[in-house]
Amino acid sequence: MKQTAPIIHSNHLLKSHHCGELRKTHAGKEVLLCGWVNKYRDLGGLHFLDLRDKYGMIQLGFEKYPGNAENDLKGINLESVVQVKGVVNERPSSAVNKDMATGEVEVQVSEFQVLSHSEIVPFLPQGKIDATEDLKLRYRYLDLRSTRLQSFVMLRSQLMRKVRETLYAEEFTEVETPILYKTTPEGARDYIVPSRVHPGKVYALPQSPQTLKQLLMIGSTDRYFQICKCFRDEDLRADRQPEFTQIDIEVSYVTAEYMRTLATKIVKACFPVGDNFMIPTMSYDQALRDYGSDKPDVRYGLVHKIVTDLFAKSEFKAFSSVVSSGGMIKALFVSKSMGEFARKAIDAFTDVVKPHGGKGVAWFKVEGGNISGGISKFITDDVLKNLKALESEDGMWLFVADSSHNVAHSSTDALRRHIASELKLADPNDYKFLWVNDFPLFEYDEEEGRLYARHHPFTSPRKDQMAQFLKGNAQEAKDLYAEAYDLVCNGYEIAGGSLRIYDTNVQSQMFKYLGMSEEEVTRQFGFFIEALKYGTPPHGGIAFGFDRLNMLVGKTDNIRDVIAFPKTNSATDLMADSPSVPNPDQLDELKMKFEK
Ligand code: AMO
Repeated sequence: MKQTAPIIHSNHLLKSHHCGELRKTHAGKEVLLCGWVNKYRDLGGLHFLDLRDKYGMIQLGFEKYPGNAENDLKGINLESVVQVKGVVNERPSSAVNKDMATGEVEVQVSEFQVLSHSEIVPFLPQGKIDATEDLKLRYRYLDLRSTRLQSFVMLRSQLMRKVRETLYAEEFTEVETPILYKTTPEGARDYIVPSRVHPGKVYALPQSPQTLKQLLMIGSTDRYFQICKCFRDEDLRADRQPEFTQIDIEVSYVTAEYMRTLATKIVKACFPVGDNFMIPTMSYDQALRDYGSDKPDVRYGLVHKIVTDLFAKSEFKAFSSVVSSGGMIKALFVSKSMGEFARKAIDAFTDVVKPHGGKGVAWFKVEGGNISGGISKFITDDVLKNLKALESEDGMWLFVADSSHNVAHSSTDALRRHIASELKLADPNDYKFLWVNDFPLFEYDEEEGRLYARHHPFTSPRKDQMAQFLKGNAQEAKDLYAEAYDLVCNGYEIAGGSLRIYDTNVQSQMFKYLGMSEEEVTRQFGFFIEALKYGTPPHGGIAFGFDRLNMLVGKTDNIRDVIAFPKTNSATDLMADSPSVPNPDQLDELKMKFEK
């Protein structure tokens, strides 16, 4: 078959229709199609080819093909790009393929040409055999041809549009902010970019546009949003990428309640939650008490119970010593109706709590009024009566005791999530949102003996605690609360924000609490502190993790699925082989040397 120039349709494209859109209503029409060769079959002289594009697949028949189908088709590798002209025919009922959206028709080809030959592909994007994750990332553009990844690409585009429409309807202005900038502390390390023009100096890529969006409020933008890239050099996890996207929002003269209402509008635009939906609120203290986490998955129960007092006089020394050291004992009750665990699975609970500092998980079972197993011999009638008052069904009690409250909370949280996953307690089709508020202002690092901003250093202390904040007593400051809030869905933190400090003195005091010298503050944030002096409207905002929002709507727990060109867990791009060694000329220009 000789290669000719592609046929051009009157629509100025090389195709008149998408492969995947053809239906019975197109029968009799002449169509011009382009796509990838997905499959070729030669059934004893009857030739069939499945042609695929982004929109789906169509079967091509060659019964009326004027050339030699066998010669023209054999030797074409799968995934080659071809153009065909032909007529859509309704298939006889015996030949209808119910598994194909286009299965009621086929195209009888009259003209056929290869536009681009493919080498043998390392894996078939629509193949039955799954390639390794690394191979798929190395050839991401091939994997992107799969229906699965295409649906994520489409979803992301639709969600971006819905978010934009929602915010434009609320009269927000979309503003772009710089990528080559200066440190914007969000708790991670910065990615830095050396400057050729200023040897020895660097830009920092924004961890978020936090200071910039606040400066926009000072600059009168009033309602800002941006769908922007953020860069954070931090340890990666299944829901984290070094480069990710935020829906970043800031509003002047705002309250936290306005932000919750706005977040509700965004959630309603993206999730099937119904017209009357409003994000329910939970305080940070309650989240910690009941779930040991500030981002609890509330699709299922398994609420934590603090039972420290019950074991003050226990014969079980591991418990009574925790009580006397001021520690905490948390319990979980797994009713028989939720499910049961074999002995081996119960023993493995220890491995679940260990990464969180937990030493082990104590347990016993209750059945028909009798108790057995684990620590049952230490459970007095009195303790049992108190536990039964909390949960009266048959089932299993689990306990995590620790002298550190943080360890008790996070270990019991890990145990709760493990049990829910083993017993499949969470409905994968359900979305449960929470607006977690009243966060502590600071986190205290016991080892370093210093305070860290729990959200970021621009978050306002709670208004009713401002006087105490301004006293500057670091010991007392540990107990202060912030005007901060997070949006949580099914155990993921999908947004976080706060009302901001808008007074220079308050901002300076915040930096003092964080142990920053005046010199350091001036060097890093002098411009910002100065800006606060020139008439700053009270303001606040929020940022959604757009990738996480996509993960939830798309029902995947891997953030790479929802990003067209993602990085691995070690922050590399396997396709472009990035990061890579710089060209020596570039280093010379930048006046930089790398040490071996
Ligand atoms: P925060 O740091 O809480 O707040 O980030 C907001 C949201 O961004 C998402 N997110 C991430 N997603 C993927 N990979 C990451 N490495 C990653 N880090 C964060 C989360 C998170 O809830 N400037 C403030 C917002 C504000 O105060 O307005 C900020 O960035 O879903």
